[in-house]
Formats: sequence, C-alpha cells, structure tokens
Amino acid sequence: MEKWEGKTAIVTGASAGIGDAIVRDLVKHGINVVAMARRMVRLQKLRDQLRNEKGKVIPIKCDVSDKQSIEEAFEEIEQRVGKVHILVNNAGICISSDIFNNSKKSDEIIVSTINTNFLGLVRFSKNAYKLMKKTDDYGIIINIGSVAGHNASLDFPLNVYPGTKFAVRAVTESMRQELNKLKDTKIRVCEISPGGVLTEIGGDSMNTPEMKAMIESGMFPMLKSSDISQTVLFMLMTPYEVNITEMIVKPVGERI
Ligand SMILES: NC(=O)c1ccc[n+]([C@@H]2O[C@H](COP(=O)([O-])OP(=O)(O)OC[C@H]3O[C@@H](n4cnc5c(N)ncnc54)[C@H](OP(=O)(O)O)[C@@H]3O)[C@@H](O)[C@H]2O)c1
Repeated sequence: MEKWEGKTAIVTGASAGIGDAIVRDLVKHGINVVAMARRMVRLQKLRDQLRNEKGKVIPIKCDVSDKQSIEEAFEEIEQRVGKVHILVNNAGICISSDIFNNSKKSDEIIVSTINTNFLGLVRFSKNAYKLMKKTDDYGIIINIGSVAGHNASLDFPLNVYPGTKFAVRAVTESMRQELNKLKDTKIRVCEISPGGVLTEIGGDSMNTPEMKAMIESGMFPMLKSSDISQTVLFMLMTPYEVNITEMIVKPVGERI
C-alpha cells in the first residue's frame, strides 16, 4: 500500500455503509480522500472522526445522478485537490419495486436508479480520468457492482437495479478495452461485485426482528462494509501491471 501513500482518491457514496468503510481504510493508509455524497453533515462528521489519521478527508457535496452537480463538484476537486489517482465509484441505490407498474413513483425509481448507479458512474469515470491524466502517474478506477449484476433472479423485486449492475460490469470492460486502444497502460479499471452487505441500502426491511434473527442465526448471511473496503485495499495492493478485472465477494453460505 506504500505506493499509494500521499496520493488522492475520490470515493462516492461516502456518507454511509461501504463508502464510509472505504474512506476509513484509505486514510489509514495515508491516502487523501475526497469523500462525496449528498449528506454533507455525515461527510463532515467522518472528516472530524478521522482527523488524526495519516491521510486527510476532504468532504465535497455531490448528487451523482445530476450532471450539473457532478460538473460543479469536479471544478471544486480541480481547484482544491488538482490531481486524482484513485476513483471508487460506490454510490448506489436499490429500491424494491416492480417494473410493470405504471405509477409516476415507479417511473421515478427507474430513472433515479439508472442515473445514480450507471450514468453517475460513467460521468464520474470520465471526469476523474481527465484529472488522472494530469498526474502522469498510475491510476485506478474501481467500480462497485453487485452479485445482482451476475444473476437477476432474486427473491424480491428490485426493479432495474440488477439491470444497472449488469451495465456496470459491461461498461467496466468497455472502459478497459478503450484504455487498451489508447495504449494507456498506467490506468486500470476493475469491478467488485459484493453479495449481501449489512448497510442502510435495504432500509427498514433489514431492521425487522425476523430479519435480524435470520441474520444472527446465519440463515441469511451478510458481509460487513469493512469486508468490501478490505477488497478495495486488496485491489490497490496488486502491482501496477496486474489488472484483476472483476471480483465477486459473497458471505459464506449466501444462496444467490
Ligand atoms: N449492501 C449490499 O448488500 C450491497 C450488495 C451489492 C452491492 N452493493 C453496492 O454497494 C454500493 C454502496 O451501497 P451500500 O450498501 O453501502 O448502501 P448505503 O448504506 O445505502 O449507502 C449508499 C451511499 O450512496 C450514496 N448515494 C446514493 N444516492 C446518491 C446520489 N444520488 N448522489 C450521491 N450519493 C448518493 C449515499 O449518500 P447520500 O444519501 O448522502 O447521498 C450513501 O453514501 C452501491 O453501489 C450498492 O449497489 C451493496
């Protein structure tokens, strides 16, 4: 990890769950992290908690589903930080609902899931790549997908969520191919597909007594956010010329 010390990472979705854990692990290793999300209060609290770590946290507000918000955030990153070496595209939403539902609400869920999980990730990658090129140094884009991006037959209706995660895997490979064509051997792109991780993404459905009992008994095994941040560290630890393009990380005993 020493090779990344003093370098800069951007982590989206840093105000909760997996993103929060990734920020904690990166700053412990001396990486300066631009922590991004919509809830600034949470990002500022994270910065304060990690004040004594080797790397520093720079909280910047951004709605990844909004093009203008992304452009403004990158102007701020360019002014305050300048160079970027690592991008972790982690922000995501997953709202249980049906596709064949003609309500306005259902349409809003479809649009915001695509804009957050897919379009936001593509736009962040484009903007971060521009700043990575300025460094003339090594860089890496890590996209957080899901096991739902490998298998859409889940027990509950997740609308277009699996579709966006299949798309994340596809676009990761398209980016890799494009970097090959550009003969850009300094920037790598890869994808991590987590299985179930106990975070806020499942909302209240994960907090029922029945669900808690199933998790505790091992009937419904779940990872911790730190299991995924450790996977991010593993990706970073590999030599610059090694590209692990994809990793699936499941809790032992997961059914999917
Ligand atoms: N938990 C799981 O079981 C699981 C499994 C596989 C994959 N994943 C993936 O892991 C990633 C992180 O999920 P998580 O489980 O940690 O969820 P989480 O606890 O709900 O956290 C989601 C994060 O994404 C941010 N976010 C959501 N919409 C955003 C937007 N429009 N603009 C900016 N930030 C936004 C949230 O911040 P704000 O609300 O403050 O903006 C929050 O920081 C997601 O891509 C998810 O699909 C999770």
